[in-house]
Amino acid sequence: MVRHLVESQQLSVDALFKIFKRADFLRAHQKSTLKNKLLTTLFYEPSTRTRLSFESAMLKLGGSVIGTESAKEFSSVSKGESLEDTIRVIGAYSDIIVLRSSEEGAALSASMISKVPIINGGDGKGQHPTQAILDLYTIYREFKRLNNLKIAIVGDLKSGRTVHSLCYLLGKFKNIKIILISPPHLKVGENIKEYLTKHKIFFEEREDMNSILPFVDVVYMTRIQKERMCKTEYDKANGCYKINLSNINLLRRNTRIMHPLPHVTEIDLPFEVEENDPRVAYFRQAENGLYVRMAILEDLLLSKRSSRLSILQRRR
Ligand code: CP
Repeated sequence: MVRHLVESQQLSVDALFKIFKRADFLRAHQKSTLKNKLLTTLFYEPSTRTRLSFESAMLKLGGSVIGTESAKEFSSVSKGESLEDTIRVIGAYSDIIVLRSSEEGAALSASMISKVPIINGGDGKGQHPTQAILDLYTIYREFKRLNNLKIAIVGDLKSGRTVHSLCYLLGKFKNIKIILISPPHLKVGENIKEYLTKHKIFFEEREDMNSILPFVDVVYMTRIQKERMCKTEYDKANGCYKINLSNINLLRRNTRIMHPLPHVTEIDLPFEVEENDPRVAYFRQAENGLYVRMAILEDLLLSKRSSRLSILQRRR
């Protein structure tokens, strides 16, 4: 059976900690465990972090990489080839595929016909599970715990696939409080709220951000995704939320500012603050992605199917 990483609900707490432990190890030790393995990065949407950190991860583990970063234009999709046929062909050339698509559900469709592991590198407004794993790893490294945390998630919660995947992962931990802060038209979907309720995660929805800042451990900022909404919706949301010099000191000294990046106007801090204020965690977060993705590639390519801690678990 081929194992895929399509959505973050797949991951058990044990599997997450196994990835974190391996990521810590790979940060400190050079290993060539994936010599003779080949990764394809198939990206139909732009990316800096996901594509390049996966490519770097594979190369650092001794493997090789092929790929296309603008697949809508540079793959034979431009001639009308289906995603399914594309995946079948690439599966014959490589051992694992990271797929980013603008279509929600594309990674699931690909996984249903692929003979090699598919990693969802972001599917439209759907999910971005490897981002959520590195987000959680970052929280774990910063706080040394994943229980008893109050987390504000701010911005475009409707289209934000990193938000969706993160909420699903947070649902696996205890005594988590989530404050969902967005304009009314960009609230998180009912499916996420139902999941949090089912998993007994306290959450509340708010529009105001500044009043919450003094009380949270993490403020997880997100970009308003202009490319996923009409101009009227964007204009209503643009500029609603911003961390800058006038409100950063509402945050406690041990609070962390996170962001999946890229950020635009929702974070407006000088370079010196970003470099020196320990509350700014988003560049450490992006770096953590490299080690987490090394661990994920190893897990999918090397773990035995029967491994109790392997990534693919039953969906819960
Ligand atoms: N966080 C994230 O997915 O970044 P990229 O779009 O640059 O890959």
